[in-house]
Amino acid sequence: MPDYQKMYTILFNKLTDIHEEIEKIQQVVEEIYINTSEDRYLWLDTPAEDAILEKIEKESETSYNKNGFQNATRKENSSMFKIVKKEHLNPTVAKMVIEAPLIAKKAEPGQFIIFRAKEDSERIPLTVADYDREAGTVTIIYQIVGAGTMELDTLEEGDCLHDFVGPLGTPSHVEGLKKVAVVGGGVGCAIAYPVAKKLHELGAVVHSVVGFRNKDLVILEDEFNAVSDKVCMMTDDGSYGEKGLVTNALEKLINEGNQYDEVIAIGPLIMMKFVCQLTKKYNIKTVVSMNPIMIDGTGMCGGCRLTVGGETKFACVDGPDFDGHLVDFDEAMHRGTMYKDFEQHAREAECNLLKKEVK
Ligand code: NAD
Ligand code: FES
Repeated sequence: MPDYQKMYTILFNKLTDIHEEIEKIQQVVEEIYINTSEDRYLWLDTPAEDAILEKIEKESETSYNKNGFQNATRKENSSMFKIVKKEHLNPTVAKMVIEAPLIAKKAEPGQFIIFRAKEDSERIPLTVADYDREAGTVTIIYQIVGAGTMELDTLEEGDCLHDFVGPLGTPSHVEGLKKVAVVGGGVGCAIAYPVAKKLHELGAVVHSVVGFRNKDLVILEDEFNAVSDKVCMMTDDGSYGEKGLVTNALEKLINEGNQYDEVIAIGPLIMMKFVCQLTKKYNIKTVVSMNPIMIDGTGMCGGCRLTVGGETKFACVDGPDFDGHLVDFDEAMHRGTMYKDFEQHAREAECNLLKKEVK
């Protein structure tokens, strides 16, 4: 007769082992989930953080993280993501040069980073405005428009950002292009500039068309001059350069006989929409850089979705660059206004908060 008692004990022990293994697997899955979601940084604050950080950094070079994210800061390490330079480019736009050697090593034009100024700050996605691989720095340019950027702007040289993750997204495809018109509108010029620079480095003929509302808002003029074969400076009111919109200058260049392999347009949605309407008329391929609301930046939340060619795309992983002739700009503009009231409220609250701090 089988010894059922013994068999039961063996079975029980096996099940206990399996249960423990499952728990371990669950823990690992949970850690991976945390590390690839909103709170990835908190996970790094465990006692084993050095080992974990080392492991992530090793894996981020290979399979774990195809984008090669620079993994997040350890909170107590105050020397990470230091602001080495801060400069106001115009009354509402500022530039920060951030110490981030791993991101600087891998960043390409068109890619973006997501950062938090402080631990409880909102997450801000910003396209990389420049990088210096040797100095190990990444430049960001931001418009002080909402509560998040107002808070960011309270930080000064020598302060550190709480975290800084990237490079995210797909780099702009610039290889093989021989003659390109790069169109930048307002703050969008901060993103158009590294694309123009890369094209120039690759030997392409670059015609830059940059537009601002007025002279006081002009940014990066010297930078565009240094990397372009021709620069058309436009202002809406004619206070600097030529009077008119970027579309007026672009159409003029096309009518002068310039044949572009591609037009790359970066700026407000309305500008990109009208640039695309123009280039469609002339049958010139046009790439736009979309900057919808983003949350995780890794394709999980769906916050950045857009309709491109009738299909749903995520700007953070499928873009931010898209074929402009296929983008549904009207939908993107509608989605862009969804948080307008919230932003207005947050801005007012932040203003009051800052006022109190100043007193
Ligand atoms: P803005 O409104 O001052 O416009 C800048 C220029 O764009 C104008 O001077 C004009 O030449 C051109 N433009 C505007 N409307 C146009 C139209 N209807 N037709 C043709 N040309 C037009 O820009 P801003 O205030 O500096 O930019 C703010 C906006 O840019 C924000 O909404 C921000 O989200 C967006 N932005 C987009 C990106 C991106 O990656 N696409 C990056 C940074 C900022
Ligand atoms: Fe979440 Fe793109 S930001 S899916």
